[in-house]
Amino acid sequence: MAGAVCSDSNPFIGKELREVGIQGSGVVLRGASEIEKAVADSDVVLFVSKPDADMTNIPKVVALRKRVAVGTTGFTQSQTEWLNSLLKNVPSIVASNFSVGANMLFQITRLLSRFNNLYDYSVVEEHHKLKSDAPSGTAKTMLEILNSSSAFPVTVTDRTAKPRRAAGEIEIVSLRGGGTPGIHQLILSGEYDRLKIEHLAFSRAASASGALLACKWIVTKDQPGIYSMQDVLGLTRSDEKQPY
Ligand SMILES: NC(=O)c1ccc[n+]([C@@H]2O[C@H](COP(=O)([O-])OP(=O)(O)OC[C@H]3O[C@@H](n4cnc5c(N)ncnc54)[C@H](OP(=O)(O)O)[C@@H]3O)[C@@H](O)[C@H]2O)c1
Repeated sequence: MAGAVCSDSNPFIGKELREVGIQGSGVVLRGASEIEKAVADSDVVLFVSKPDADMTNIPKVVALRKRVAVGTTGFTQSQTEWLNSLLKNVPSIVASNFSVGANMLFQITRLLSRFNNLYDYSVVEEHHKLKSDAPSGTAKTMLEILNSSSAFPVTVTDRTAKPRRAAGEIEIVSLRGGGTPGIHQLILSGEYDRLKIEHLAFSRAASASGALLACKWIVTKDQPGIYSMQDVLGLTRSDEKQPY
């Protein structure tokens, strides 16, 4: 690791990461206003932060022509469009979930997306009580996948005013509690049977290890553009051996 950045008000600024128990590294933690110095020796810069912070920090890093990996979720539609217009100028990866298992879930979701005439689809996600966005970025990616190949014109997040399920609905439920690192379920409920596929992260290491894979992969790319974890994992190339 070549550098690390936090908010400018963080009391640990100036300390080495090993002093704050993050990693056995002598990298000194800097405030965001020093991001250019923090990333000077880096090959790729990973953002897992807050949307407003990334809106300020990512342009500075792209201006330095650094490769970028973005895992932050909760951007508005207009923020996403603006960021994409920047990120396409450098080799970059955007992933609502870096974990390998969650990306397998995305692939299975794609495979199962075409049975909406036979089954009612629900997405259930559960996270720790301090998560700042809902539904999770991962659940939104699942919805995007389902909506790209099937017809779900109505998304229902609350049944209070609409207790009965109508045709064309997709249901999405968010639970928040304790320290749950992340659970995502795709549920297909039919007349006679039900299928439930679940991804459960044991800890944040699930995302962290996938983020490392993404960073190692993107440093091998010279072509500017926005790549995905599906590219990293070889899931977009059905004819090739999986690289991991
Ligand atoms: N893609 C994935 O696989 C994945 C996995 C996990 C989380 N996420 C997403 O990543 C984001 C962070 O999640 P989290 O649970 O770690 O949230 P969190 O605990 O609230 O952490 C937010 C981090 O952002 C830092 N930050 C705040 N302002 C900043 C600034 N101006 N410049 C630089 N850093 C700043 C905070 O530093 P201070 O402590 O100094 O404020 C803190 O380290 C969320 O959007 C979450 O959904 C994605």
